[in-house]
Amino acid sequence: MLLKENTLDLFFDTEFRRVHPFRVQLLKWIGNKQRFAHEIASFFPAAFKTYYEPFLGSGAVLATLCPPNAVGADVFPPLMEIWITLQKDPDKVLQWYEERYKVFYSKPRPFGYELIKSSYNACPNGADLLFLSRSCYGGVVRFRKSDGYMSTPCGVHDPISPSAFLEKLQRWHTRTRNTTFLCQDFETTINMAQEGDLVYCDPPYKHSQTILYGGQDFSLNRLMLCISDAKERGVNVALSLDGKKKSGSVVCQLHLPDGLFEREIFISCGRSMLRRFQREGDSLDDEFVEDRLLITY
Ligand SMILES: C[S@@+](CC[C@H](N)C(=O)[O-])C[C@H]1O[C@@H](n2cnc3c(N)ncnc32)[C@H](O)[C@@H]1O
Repeated sequence: MLLKENTLDLFFDTEFRRVHPFRVQLLKWIGNKQRFAHEIASFFPAAFKTYYEPFLGSGAVLATLCPPNAVGADVFPPLMEIWITLQKDPDKVLQWYEERYKVFYSKPRPFGYELIKSSYNACPNGADLLFLSRSCYGGVVRFRKSDGYMSTPCGVHDPISPSAFLEKLQRWHTRTRNTTFLCQDFETTINMAQEGDLVYCDPPYKHSQTILYGGQDFSLNRLMLCISDAKERGVNVALSLDGKKKSGSVVCQLHLPDGLFEREIFISCGRSMLRRFQREGDSLDDEFVEDRLLITY
């Protein structure tokens, strides 16, 4: 039977961890978990060998957890180019940002931004994506499903200065220095995990995110099979999925394989980021969302 829990205190028989919030966001990414990554990570086991994050996105949970041994992966090449360069050559990432900051301010808004967007769309790359993620409207980088065209207009806020960006960069570089970054499908990443390892999955959500992330196809059934195999190998798996929308009035229905997960926890995420983007100016008091965290242990 799946136990439904809301607080850590109910976990009397399992040793969990205390995780401090880390609110410094490097990339803006739809589905970013920065604000409540520490709550998610608090439900991770107190001990594990290697930490695997197969749907890395902006890496909020990885950087908050700051594990001594980790693998972070995503299938989106421009995104992984950012992570791999951050680790090998952080000065280069700063240089990417500085160059595009100059282009941004070289013309009246939004023409500098549009130049960077055109450069990205002509040849998708990490350098442009990094700056676009920090300067696009609402921090919601959207891609056209048919061809991956990045379509988000320029944001209303000023992008942070290169010196403010450098501060974030240094903290992220330190927190991810024990991570191996790989550009690959989730199945390859999950299959790398062995007994005693931990896998945290935050896949594109079924209910709201099909237009995002370059339109990659995602199969929840395939993910469930991988999680099931991993559990059999002695790997602990935590999975974030749609929980409740419309301030709790709509519970997203999912068909979960029997016996795969031991516990289900609902974590409050505040107002929906995507709805904030779509309903500019509205109060959004009816748009609070809760994430569902399913764990196999
Ligand atoms: C919900 S986001 C992850 C957000 C992340 N937790 C954060 O805090 O930013 C889902 C990610 O899954 C990636 N993705 C989509 N399909 C994938 C696949 N087949 N294999 C690996 N990653 C995939 C997307 O590129 C996207 O970055």
